[in-house]
Amino acid sequence: MTRGPAGRGPRFSTRLLLAQSLVLVAGALTIWLVASAVGPSIFHEHLDRAGDTHSTEETQHLEEAFASAMLVSVGVALVAAVAAALAVSWYFSRRIQRSIGNVAAASSQIAAGRYDTYVDDPGLGAEFATLAATYNRLAGRLEATESTRRQMLADLAHEMRTPLATIDAHLEALEDGVRHLDSDTVTVLRSSTHRLRRLAEDIGAVSHAEEGDLRLDPRSVDATEVAATAVDAARDRYEAKGVRFDVDLHPAGRVDVDPDRIGQVLGNLIDNALRHTPAGGRVTVSCRRVDDWVEYAVADTGDGIAAEHLPHLFDRFYRVDTARDRHHGGSGIGLAIAKALIEAHRGGISATSAGPGHGSTFTVRIPAA
Ligand SMILES: Nc1ncnc2c1ncn2[C@@H]1O[C@H](COP(=O)(O)OP(=O)(O)OP(=O)(O)O)[C@@H](O)[C@H]1O
Ligand SMILES: [Mg+2]
Repeated sequence: MTRGPAGRGPRFSTRLLLAQSLVLVAGALTIWLVASAVGPSIFHEHLDRAGDTHSTEETQHLEEAFASAMLVSVGVALVAAVAAALAVSWYFSRRIQRSIGNVAAASSQIAAGRYDTYVDDPGLGAEFATLAATYNRLAGRLEATESTRRQMLADLAHEMRTPLATIDAHLEALEDGVRHLDSDTVTVLRSSTHRLRRLAEDIGAVSHAEEGDLRLDPRSVDATEVAATAVDAARDRYEAKGVRFDVDLHPAGRVDVDPDRIGQVLGNLIDNALRHTPAGGRVTVSCRRVDDWVEYAVADTGDGIAAEHLPHLFDRFYRVDTARDRHHGGSGIGLAIAKALIEAHRGGISATSAGPGHGSTFTVRIPAA
């Protein structure tokens, strides 16, 4: 008996063939038994009805002849049928075995970390096609997760290097007596530790958010009020920079959300818009009801975003203009947190832009209560 690759019992094709053989043999036996039980008595009845004139001995001989002719022909037919059916079953078992073998081989490749493996549709029907497609999606996701993880570690190291180098250099200068612990030195040291602390907090927040382990405190609130609160908190900063702040809040009904978290997301979008809009520009915050959703939008007339960056904005540590955005103090985590928070509220967040120099619009949708 052929053994499976992992040695756990016979191969699938062998099992399938065995099962089919059992069915065939059981069928053949049943036909044989029924034919030999029913056939002779029907023949006997026909003879009787035809007004049998033969002697008892002749009748018995006739019946025996019928029984043996019937059993031989049924027997030969059954053996031929079983043989033909087994051949067909063997062919199909082999085909199924080969297709499943391919899927199994591809999935072991994926398990071994080769995520670029592609599982072909085995051509065995809808369920197997779905299985293959699911494997491919799984591999894709694993690959994405793995590359995010690698990227995140690299980014993290990169983010830590600058403040650490600054602290190191200043401590060394203090030790050598080149510098003294005056207020300038303290300010530099403080800003570096501040940067490190913020990084640690952001990373903590984003991992909590992405693992779905967020302490949300949802309650029924007025959707428009949530936006109004976020707007009020930012007004002074807009005035200071000379960016016009337009507000277009329509009554949108109630939402079951954690208002602090939604406020945090809107505040983040409003801050980003201010950062990327030069003085004289305009930012519009709006809120409206669209079918079963409450839709918030923050639209600016500022820097805009090139199409190739749009799909990555919500990734951790993603910044369009790395040097400039870092200079602003951003870690590129705000939108990743925003996305996780909105998804925890069963909503969605998206960004559009007509291109660099043409402003951007960030839209948040939350199911209405
Ligand atoms: N309104 C906007 N206009 C143009 N670019 C934007 C806008 N909002 C975000 N971006 C781009 O998307 C990137 C990611 O934004 P995100 O809020 O995640 O990070 P950040 O603002 O740089 O840092 P953080 O929010 O962690 O302080 C930004 O660095 C910026 O390049
Ligand atoms: Mg931000």
